[in-house]
Amino acid sequence: MIDIGMQYLGIKLSSPIMVASTPLSESVDNVRRMEDAGAAGIVLTSLFEEQLELEQRALDEDLSRGTESFAESLDFLPEQREYRVTQDVYLDHLRKVRAAVDIPVLASLNGVTPGGWIRFAKEMEEAGAHGIELNTYALATHRSQTSSEIENQLLELVRNVCSAVSIPVAVKLSQSFTSLPHLAARLEDAGAKGVVLFNRFYQPDFDIESLEVRPTLHFSTPSELLPRLHWAAILYGNLNADVAITGGVHSAEDVLKSIMAGASITMMVSALHIHGIEHIGRVLADLRYWLERREYTSLAETRGCLSRRSAPDTSPYDRRNYIKTLSSYSLRQTVAAF
Ligand SMILES: Cc1cc2nc3c(=O)[nH]c(=O)nc-3n(C[C@H](O)[C@H](O)[C@H](O)COP(=O)(O)O)c2cc1C
Repeated sequence: MIDIGMQYLGIKLSSPIMVASTPLSESVDNVRRMEDAGAAGIVLTSLFEEQLELEQRALDEDLSRGTESFAESLDFLPEQREYRVTQDVYLDHLRKVRAAVDIPVLASLNGVTPGGWIRFAKEMEEAGAHGIELNTYALATHRSQTSSEIENQLLELVRNVCSAVSIPVAVKLSQSFTSLPHLAARLEDAGAKGVVLFNRFYQPDFDIESLEVRPTLHFSTPSELLPRLHWAAILYGNLNADVAITGGVHSAEDVLKSIMAGASITMMVSALHIHGIEHIGRVLADLRYWLERREYTSLAETRGCLSRRSAPDTSPYDRRNYIKTLSSYSLRQTVAAF
């Protein structure tokens, strides 16, 4: 049987598909189904910095009042209802998932500032997480905020989390960085063992009748894979940390492209919401079939073969690609016009 195992964050994985953060894994039964379908591991949903601070505030208020009604206080905090779980529920679920399956389970923390909340990373480790994915989602909305301030804050956060735990930490990044190779190298220096490309931006949509700005969540399409392939291909060989791709991975072809770009692992969510958890098994069967037909002995052999480093012509990865793409389009149009 062809070997489709990969290695991510120093952990040996049985396949190249992990399940990224999704509410689907809030059910232990679903997590078992993910393992049975061939998922290499899962990332639990994120606990948010704001949520942890809110809980800490409720606890402080109770202590100052001399009561022990922490759980009740949480119910009275209206903002708390915005979050699906409390930290205790999160840790309890993490323990249950760890007991239920053998595949690696990563916990996820979402935040931007290096505050006291990151102590929670240690509790995730103690509850049995194999690693932590730090989901960072910072939005600059003020003219005085510079990109270097945002990057330095991110690096401090990563440094603090990495020094709080001994399990590996991966950083889920947004796409909007000017020099991703430089940032990725600094993240590696700060202790990150992996970078996850990329967080999706859930920009709100505008309702022009009611004049409201509304949150929207659409599932991804494979077209979202392209910027991820591009950056994974550029990072390959420039970084010791692993690269994971999340966003637009729906089929065996998407998995192959990601690994060929240089990723160590791919992650799926939308495809599972659309086709069901068992979709993982079908994708893995397609992947094996493709590799066998071409007489590969392992998936790992293909890793990085389409990266920038392996390319005889690097122009698809730089400015020349932009010029070439636009000129070829106008040429076709000119021919059609005659
Ligand atoms: C309903 C839903 C909830 C999500 N919750 C989280 C989350 O808590 N933390 C996180 O890092 N990503 C979260 N994500 C993003 C996914 O983990 C994933 O990165 C993204 O959907 C791109 O992958 P896809 O194209 O396979 O969907 C969520 C996605 C969906 C659809």
